[in-house]
Amino acid sequence: MGTQGIRVENLVKNFGQGESLVEVINGASFVVQKGELVALIAPSGAGKTTLLMMIGCVLEPTSGTIWLGEEAVYDGRWIGNDTRRIRREKIGFIFQSHYLIPFMNVIDNVTLLPQTNGLAKDKAHDKAMELLEYLEIAEKAKSMPSQLSGGQNQRVAIARALANEPQIILADEPTAALDVERSVNVVKMLKKIAQEQNVAVIMVTHDERMLAFCDKILKIEDKKIVISKLNDNKHIV
Ligand SMILES: Nc1ncnc2c1ncn2[C@@H]1O[C@H](COP(=O)(O)OP(=O)(O)OP(=O)(O)O)[C@@H](O)[C@H]1O
Ligand SMILES: [Mg+2]
Repeated sequence: MGTQGIRVENLVKNFGQGESLVEVINGASFVVQKGELVALIAPSGAGKTTLLMMIGCVLEPTSGTIWLGEEAVYDGRWIGNDTRRIRREKIGFIFQSHYLIPFMNVIDNVTLLPQTNGLAKDKAHDKAMELLEYLEIAEKAKSMPSQLSGGQNQRVAIARALANEPQIILADEPTAALDVERSVNVVKMLKKIAQEQNVAVIMVTHDERMLAFCDKILKIEDKKIVISKLNDNKHIV
């Protein structure tokens, strides 16, 4: 038994009202343990990003409950009303592409958030270099994002997501812009981070080849979540 990283119960999200009401998520329930890398899959428009944004305390659900670690953060309303603090303290976001700040070099991109959170400049720098080494991209610390390949950019984005020591990483198609080999590298890296740093990671992917590295698969079906383990999916090797 692991420790709860993310717990969602009976989560509902509608957009609009009346005639224009769109039900996107209607009663999603699941748990992601700390240390797990979990894939989130579903066709385009099924609500993957919507679900991540709610778990990330960016988008307010219509109803339901969300726990991050042992803390209930949403229960019909945001608990404590400080979603920015929760995002800052608990969550690392990784997006599809072009997410680094283009006019700042690699190291500045990684130190920005910890410094905003009050970490001294030299400490933030040391921490960032450590992360860049961990992700095997330290030699690019002074490069600008435009000078990096897609895979290198993505590793910097992961370093930045880790800079605040999050308990949770939410990655929305982190490998969409990469070829298979680089995708596998990024996913293996996320797996290593989940295991070594005891982080709960949810990764949206459209690429079935990445599922083999995941501990569980969450699939949005009929606006709910169906959970499968890899062993249950005989078509996936
Ligand atoms: N702000 C919004 N207002 C109204 N409808 C929205 C809004 N945001 C998303 N939707 C709708 O919610 C549904 C789910 O969108 P979402 O972006 O979560 O899908 P997705 O599974 O991430 O798709 P993709 O794989 O294409 O990224 C879509 O039908 C979309 O049009
Ligand atoms: Mg999406």
